[in-house]
Amino acid sequence: MNQNLEVIILAAGLGTRMKSSTIKILHRAAGRPIVDYVLDLANGVGADSPVMIIGHQREAVQQAIGDRARYAIQEEQKGTGHAVLQAASAIEPANGKRVLILSGDVPLTRPETLKKLIDEHERNNNALTLLTMKLAQPASYGRIVRGEDKSVERIVEFKDASDDEKQINEVNAGIYIFEGEHLFDNLRTLKPNNAQGEYYLTDVLGLLRDAGHRVGAVVVDDPIEALGVNSRGELAQVEAEIQRRVVEKLMADGVTFRNPNTVVIDSTVTIGNDTVVYPFVTIEGTTSIGKNCVIEPGSHLINCTIGDDVHIKTGTVAEDTTIAAKAAVGPYSHLRPGTKLGKKVKVGNFVETKKAVFGDGAKASHLSYIGDADIGADVNIGAGTITCNYDGVNKNKTTIEDGAFIGSDSQLVAPVTIGKGAYVGAGSTITKDVPPGALALSRTPQRVVEGWAEKKKK
Ligand code: UD1
Ligand code: MG
Repeated sequence: MNQNLEVIILAAGLGTRMKSSTIKILHRAAGRPIVDYVLDLANGVGADSPVMIIGHQREAVQQAIGDRARYAIQEEQKGTGHAVLQAASAIEPANGKRVLILSGDVPLTRPETLKKLIDEHERNNNALTLLTMKLAQPASYGRIVRGEDKSVERIVEFKDASDDEKQINEVNAGIYIFEGEHLFDNLRTLKPNNAQGEYYLTDVLGLLRDAGHRVGAVVVDDPIEALGVNSRGELAQVEAEIQRRVVEKLMADGVTFRNPNTVVIDSTVTIGNDTVVYPFVTIEGTTSIGKNCVIEPGSHLINCTIGDDVHIKTGTVAEDTTIAAKAAVGPYSHLRPGTKLGKKVKVGNFVETKKAVFGDGAKASHLSYIGDADIGADVNIGAGTITCNYDGVNKNKTTIEDGAFIGSDSQLVAPVTIGKGAYVGAGSTITKDVPPGALALSRTPQRVVEGWAEKKKK
């Protein structure tokens, strides 16, 4: 923990341009609310418990963030200067303490950039150092006005800027580090004399200059680092950038992507080295994938735990599923929550599973529904087997013990147990338990009528 640094995260605004019933900082990118990335940044510079300024939807924000932050409430959104002032009581502006200000809607800043900002601030004994960027189209960002000596003189908000000032292409990224002793006193003297009638945090810069303090700026190399989420378009840009970073990191760690531009992978996902990911794969949530796996096209994995050497074939959908080493799944398998596949299990095409535990080496290779089932090791489930788990009122369990063989097109009417090593003949409807080692058959014996076809034609 950095005893010397406090972090404030501005997060009270609703984000009207999102046109959403959800506050913008809780919109998700790559599997996490965008404000989570800002919390990571705060943690990255040694602030375990940043102060978050909240207003709109404060309960939802507090529920999502919990005790990862302290909170200061801004009842009415009167501007960024007013917002920061709400943190005054939470932060003891003891001499020597610094205050880093981040925006809850700016998630792409790199930790190295913040470190650079802090270093620059310390080295020059500044009262304020801010992050700026140069944009070909500076849009509605605040403009950085530099004096003849090239030092930053003031920031002019777009709505207050003259036509000449609007031509300035260096803009305020909205990330600042202040000496605490100069921050709150100056905030208290701000006046909302501007086009928006707001208390501008950016006006503190001019006040510090007037009082003879040093103000510095660090120009960020890649403007994407200061991209704010104000609209769905910007949210998509942020998601694309996080995706790009996730895949870049995974590749650096030894994962192969056959076409990295087509995959969607949450920032919460882990993948082991020598795993190969094909195009058009989506991997979400807490999914972890082992080493040396193959994930084929069109697969969608949500909150799955997958061991080493697993082969997920084309079009597989799996959620809340555990798959042990060397198993093979798909093409087109549907593994629903509660599925647990042991080592070397094979689940093939058009097999649906739900709350089904498969022992090591068990196989269900084709066209089956296996729900609420406990399948032993080395069981073979023939094509078209159905566990009839639902009687219209209750879900019932099917147990198939080790080494049993279920013939094709069988229905197992639960609750029912097939004993160890037992056989079920193809086409059977099994309603009673089958003892270990037995054969159960329920189909009617076959009748053969010789010459029947010839006679019918006549
Ligand atoms: C602000 C800066 C502008 C800069 C831009 C960078 C000011 C006056 N202007 O403008 O120079 O180029 O950011 O993105 O600071 N917020 C509150 N309470 C409020 C107002 C805002 O918590 O009363 C929060 C918002 O939720 C948001 C952040 O502060 O997270 C920035 O506010 P926003 O209204 O987006 O400021 P900009 O107009 O973008
Ligand atoms: Mg903004």
